[in-house]
Amino acid sequence: MRMPRLGLGTWHMGEGPRHREAEAGALRLGLDLGMLLVDTAEMYGDGGAEEVVAQAIRGRRDEVFLVSKFYPHHASRRKLHAACDASLARLQVERLDCYLYHWRGSVPLAETVGALGELVDAGKIASWGVSNFDVSDLEELVAIPGGERVAANQVLYNLARRGIEFDLLPWCAARSIDVMAYSPLDEGALLHHPALESAAARLGVSAAQLALAWVLRDPNVAAIPKAARPEHVRANRAAADLVLDAATLATLDRAFPPPRRKTALAMI
Ligand SMILES: NC(=O)c1ccc[n+]([C@@H]2O[C@H](COP(=O)([O-])OP(=O)(O)OC[C@H]3O[C@@H](n4cnc5c(N)ncnc54)[C@H](OP(=O)(O)O)[C@@H]3O)[C@@H](O)[C@H]2O)c1
Repeated sequence: MRMPRLGLGTWHMGEGPRHREAEAGALRLGLDLGMLLVDTAEMYGDGGAEEVVAQAIRGRRDEVFLVSKFYPHHASRRKLHAACDASLARLQVERLDCYLYHWRGSVPLAETVGALGELVDAGKIASWGVSNFDVSDLEELVAIPGGERVAANQVLYNLARRGIEFDLLPWCAARSIDVMAYSPLDEGALLHHPALESAAARLGVSAAQLALAWVLRDPNVAAIPKAARPEHVRANRAAADLVLDAATLATLDRAFPPPRRKTALAMI
């Protein structure tokens, strides 16, 4: 993969001034522990999350693989340059490592691909990708001149949302498109599932750690858990070192069956 496989999500960060220092501290801790992929978006906290990231990466920009995302209503040639400039200004950096189309909107894909190419040529982004694109969207994208440069697809993936294993994951792996798993803990909703809790207890880890290690078992997937609490950041970093045995994987397959047919891409 082009990017580090374990990162830091930032949704719900930067939503109010009260928590910003603690949020930036959690991100800095993650970087200290080697979680060097940072995922943010102009949408999060209405730009506030990008400002928190700026605070966290000050003085260490070069360590970080920095990803931000633009709104579908900024996907036109006219608006994308301004959206990118605004993200760079909030992040206080000169370049993004990857810039993602947050979800598909009504602007023709060819126009967005053209504008993204201009941002690469201008040195404002090193690469670009998409988010919440299903296989049919990706097929359309790669058929457009320049569309084959898509570097990543960020999608919902966790034990409770396994649909992409049927087609999207192999499709991306075959084309060396990095898959970024968002909400790897299902926004916390997974964590009290009895089968997950008992499998985790048998291994002496938390349910969150087992859920995260499970996402990371696939070498073509990066995970970007969001954690504002330092103890969660530490636990998530440790989860990346877990190697799951066949019995644990089989137990999880019984509790969270893999897909047997195509389902539409789930998204939040
Ligand atoms: N492209 C998209 O459309 C899209 C959509 C959704 C999310 N995302 C990205 O993916 C990131 C992650 O997804 P998410 O924020 O939706 O959900 P998530 O990472 O699945 O879950 C976050 C929740 O889990 C808690 N948590 C984290 N680590 C934990 C641990 N070790 N033990 C117990 N609880 C733990 C967090 O608590 P604390 O914060 O209190 O520590 C938070 O409440 C987002 O932040 C965002 O960057 C992208």
